[in-house]
Amino acid sequence: MSALMIAHSSQLEDSGALGVTLPDGRAAFVVRVHGRSSAFENRCPHQGIGLEDKPDTFLEDGNELIQCRMHGALFLPESGECVFGPCLGRSLTPVPVSVDSEGNVYLARE
Ligand code: FES
Repeated sequence: MSALMIAHSSQLEDSGALGVTLPDGRAAFVVRVHGRSSAFENRCPHQGIGLEDKPDTFLEDGNELIQCRMHGALFLPESGECVFGPCLGRSLTPVPVSVDSEGNVYLARE
C-alpha cells in the first residue's frame, strides 16, 4: 500500500499551515516553518479544543510558532511543546509524518 499524502507541497507556502482530517477521523494540522514540516493533532492541551479560529490559522503572526487562538498558547513546531500560555510545559500530540524531496507530506507508517 502506498503512503498517504496529507499535504501537497503547494498547500504549504513557506511558513504555512494546513488543517487536515486523518483517515481515522482525527482532526490534525501540518505546519511548515523554515522549510521543515511537522504535524500534530488539532487538540490544544489546555482545553482539548481545536487551535484555529479560521481555517488553517495555526501559526502566530511571525510564522515561527504554533498558536492556539483561544487563549494564545504558543508551541514549538519541532516538538509541539507549549512554551507560553496556560498549558506551559505540556505538548500537542505529534502525528508522525515523512516528507519527500518535493516537500509533500505523508502520513508515516506506525
Ligand atoms: S484552549 Fe488552547 S490555550 Fe486555552
